[in-house]
Amino acid sequence: MTHTMTHAQPSSIVEASNRGALARWGIYTALAAAWVATAGSLYMSEVLGWVPCLWCWYQRIAMYPLALLLAFGLIVRDRSLPKYALMLAVPGLLAATYHILLQKVPFFARFEACRVGVPCSVDYLNWLGFITVPMLAWVAFAIVIAGSILALRAGADGAYLQAGPVLELSPTLSVGLVVIPVVLLFTLSGVLSGSQRTAEAQPSLEALSTTPSLERASDQEALRIYNQSCIGCHGPANAGMILVRPEFLRENSDLELLAFMRAGRAANAPDNFSGQAMPANGGRIDLTDAQILALIRLMREAKQ
Ligand code: HEC
Repeated sequence: MTHTMTHAQPSSIVEASNRGALARWGIYTALAAAWVATAGSLYMSEVLGWVPCLWCWYQRIAMYPLALLLAFGLIVRDRSLPKYALMLAVPGLLAATYHILLQKVPFFARFEACRVGVPCSVDYLNWLGFITVPMLAWVAFAIVIAGSILALRAGADGAYLQAGPVLELSPTLSVGLVVIPVVLLFTLSGVLSGSQRTAEAQPSLEALSTTPSLERASDQEALRIYNQSCIGCHGPANAGMILVRPEFLRENSDLELLAFMRAGRAANAPDNFSGQAMPANGGRIDLTDAQILALIRLMREAKQ
């Protein structure tokens, strides 16, 4: 009897501490995923200048609070933390799923909600021919969900919140160890790519004038694109087109305007006159040279 007791106790203590370690790794992995995703998302919009579409915003609404909530919840050792994280990550995963369907399944593209501004069905990123931004978001949400469920099931007693996963550091230190390298890494690469960007901001006119695809896009098509993608910032085509100066169109050739459209104009660019940014390609990376030239014809007509 005594023999079995002494045996049972240490093994259950070992088991409890294993479960605690599992729960700790779950919640800290969720924290890391949320921080990498948040920093990556800010990197794409603020450093690379990619304008987020409507469904990107819905996912951001779920992801950004997760980064803060998971950090704060660990520091104050809140037992309900995994539940709060699930409350944000599950809708985020659903939004990412819908966004992926919009991009990859033609049937869903018909329901596209983003009529004005940047379309949701094209993506800036296409790694290996199929990996897009919402897929990265989907993976991050899935990691947060898996980590939170692990913490919820293995760490029901909340004891795992007493220490961090590495070297049993305090939660405050452990959170710092996750968050600070992520922020430093993205800031550093932002600084590096920022200095590169000024060097190659303007695509060369020679490169543009030799592009072969200069078949003509119709005026009708130009108006359709304008009403989908430019009208949100520039107003209706027949109402004067705000933020477009007639002298800018007059003083620049079609090719120069094409180069301008491809590059956009940062809010802090020396020749910016409104203090607001003109996104590269008007936010439409999918436009061909011919379509942009048709848009330029449309603007010239509207502003003469
Ligand atoms: C997110 C808002 C936004 C969208 C979308 C947008 N623009 Fe702009 N655009 C601006 C802003 C702001 C400026 C003014 C920049 C400045 O102050 O220098 C501008 C400037 C321009 C200019 C130069 C005007 C000048 O006088 O220097 C052209 C041409 C232009 N946009 C065309 C387009 C076209 C065509 C589209 C659609 C494919 C488009 N824009 C989509 C915000 C936008």
